[in-house]
Amino acid sequence: MSQRVIFDCDPGVDDGVALLLAFSAKTELDLLGITTVAGNVSAELTARNACLIRDIAGRTDVPVFAGCTRPLVLEPIEAGHFHGESGLGDLPIGTPTRGAAREHAVDFIVRTLCDAAPESISLVITGPMTNVATALSREPRCLKGIKDLIIMGGARREGGNITASAEYNIYADPHAAQAVFNAGPRVWAFGLDATHQVRATPARTAAISAIGSPIARAAAQLIEFSNALPANGPRAQGSPLHDPCPIVWLLEPDLFEFLPCHVDVETESRLTLGHTAVEFRARADRAQNVRWAVHAESEGVFSLISRVFQA
Ligand code: RIB
Ligand code: CA
Repeated sequence: MSQRVIFDCDPGVDDGVALLLAFSAKTELDLLGITTVAGNVSAELTARNACLIRDIAGRTDVPVFAGCTRPLVLEPIEAGHFHGESGLGDLPIGTPTRGAAREHAVDFIVRTLCDAAPESISLVITGPMTNVATALSREPRCLKGIKDLIIMGGARREGGNITASAEYNIYADPHAAQAVFNAGPRVWAFGLDATHQVRATPARTAAISAIGSPIARAAAQLIEFSNALPANGPRAQGSPLHDPCPIVWLLEPDLFEFLPCHVDVETESRLTLGHTAVEFRARADRAQNVRWAVHAESEGVFSLISRVFQA
């Protein structure tokens, strides 16, 4: 039976690859909607980019909902240096055949989760968690509809990628992240500890491109844009493929290993803002409601990506 999913993202080059993968997994994933948020680029551009990726995948049957334009408390911090001015690297940018829906992303999330059967919808988040945190605080009743909260964000062993101690998605809205990590439903967290193991080497990227379909070629072009960025390390090593990891896990869970933990997010310190304090030691006074990804079977991840794009 296909899994019912709301996919919240800030496309974004790697969000774009994750969207292409999710759109391609037609029988495994029932995508109820794509919700977009300000993050890598503005809220206007992330919504447009989701619609453009949807066109490439031929999935205009899936609605896109534009969301929050700024973090809960702090000023917006974009990551255009990793994603290009458009947010989709060097992909050609046209006008989407269908735009975002009129309904706000937060209203869609609240309505869909409140109307859903208990624990029947998985929420994937690959950007700042502003939309989901706003939805859960506006209407706590919608918590009941969540099966799993599947997040790309955070870092422990690997250290940060936007500051010494913080990963971008958490740093961009630490107040939202703290709220979502501690909202109650079980969280599956794909931090840099896992995503840095998933490297798009030139051989892996070429194998995706060689599939030859418009979707596979677009994915390879997005990946190659990241690979060419000096900030992502030597090209031979390949850039880390962050945002597809939660989608890959939905399709083949055994490709990742997790440890139970509790996560708190630094929201005050100037030096360590956005740090995820990942505590693996169990304590009697609080639940370990986060599963922290500690290992990725990277060869298997890329085999699955190629398999889905070839189908
Ligand atoms: O740190 C990686 C995350 O930040 C990814 O989601 C990427 O798209 C950026 O948003
Ligand atoms: Ca992202």
